[in-house]
Amino acid sequence: MQLGREAARRSGKEDRHREPMEPAAMRVLIPAAELARRVAELAGRIDADYRLAGGGGGGRHGGRPRPQEDPLIAVGVLKGSVFFLADLLRRLRVPVAVDFLQTASYGAGGEHRGEVRIRKDLDLAIRGRDVLLIEDIVDTGFTVRTILDLLRHRGARSVRLCALLDKTAARQVEVPIDYRGFAIENVFVVGYGLDHGERYRNLPYIAVWQAEGEPLATPAAPPPPTPERSMSGMQFHHTDQAPAAIGPYSQAVSVDGWLYTSGQVGLDPATGELVAGGFEAQARRALENLRQVLASAGCGFSDVVKATVYVVDLADFPRLNALYGEAMGEHRPARSTVQAAALPRGALVEIDLVARLRPGAGS
Ligand code: XMP
Ligand code: MG
Repeated sequence: MQLGREAARRSGKEDRHREPMEPAAMRVLIPAAELARRVAELAGRIDADYRLAGGGGGGRHGGRPRPQEDPLIAVGVLKGSVFFLADLLRRLRVPVAVDFLQTASYGAGGEHRGEVRIRKDLDLAIRGRDVLLIEDIVDTGFTVRTILDLLRHRGARSVRLCALLDKTAARQVEVPIDYRGFAIENVFVVGYGLDHGERYRNLPYIAVWQAEGEPLATPAAPPPPTPERSMSGMQFHHTDQAPAAIGPYSQAVSVDGWLYTSGQVGLDPATGELVAGGFEAQARRALENLRQVLASAGCGFSDVVKATVYVVDLADFPRLNALYGEAMGEHRPARSTVQAAALPRGALVEIDLVARLRPGAGS
């Protein structure tokens, strides 16, 4: 938890004997509902990656579900990550073990020299295991850089980073964030686990901490986009975590308690291109895209009542069933499978879904 001098002053860690200053005002940066929505999206992505890939980007489980005796190890960094970690892990379906570590700075006075010491170490052995580091915020990057190096040094099979907040403008060392909640401005934030002099951790939202007498420096963030609702009560859903529609249609539409998704192919939302790796890679990506679309409407695969699958070659049927079965788990919605002469963008597989909305999750 090394902080620069300015950040240490703002964090209330400069002088432990002085009461932290009361904020003149708390500007809400990320409301609770937006946190919940994003946490669900992140959990969906993590679930898909570790379940479909068997964790760590392929490897010895060969796409089969993760065995119960060898679960993913989620490592939270005390104390700031605990609220985020608890909400995130409650939404995961892959088996997961939990452990914590805590860091401290070497020198007193809050000077950030990039030296981070482990104050509380892990209880679990991580050699040969898939580890997901869960952190509240990446600021200069020194803290997570040090922890990631340590976890790799101990022989973890794979190490990935999930960080709720990313202060990109403050970065001093490069840190790849595999699962990022929000990029934020270079301001000191509190709430949802983050503190100022040990206060405000229990705020249900993220707020900008403001010293008394200082003007509110930055304008409020624009409100998150809400799904559009038409006169007929239809709601049009969109998520950046799945490819944008490539024509005049929506990723999904809900009406009267039902959600209808458009067909998803194996396009990578980041590049807009088909993923490399043939049928299996495309099917995984199409399913992940659908998972994200479902999540954006507050549901998951267990809410699906009907699927339609289009394949260019019915010989891929067994491979499709294996991947589809992993995604659905025990759930068995109705399904039709059709061999199509050709699919958009030269895709090998396309899937669309009809799902039942959960109570309170849209129209
Ligand atoms: P570095 O700079 O090593 O810092 O990436 C990461 C750690 O510093 C703390 N930190 C903050 N805590 N509001 C906080 O309450 C902030 O805006 C903030 N920025 C950094 C945090 O403990 C994090 O783990
Ligand atoms: Mg922290």
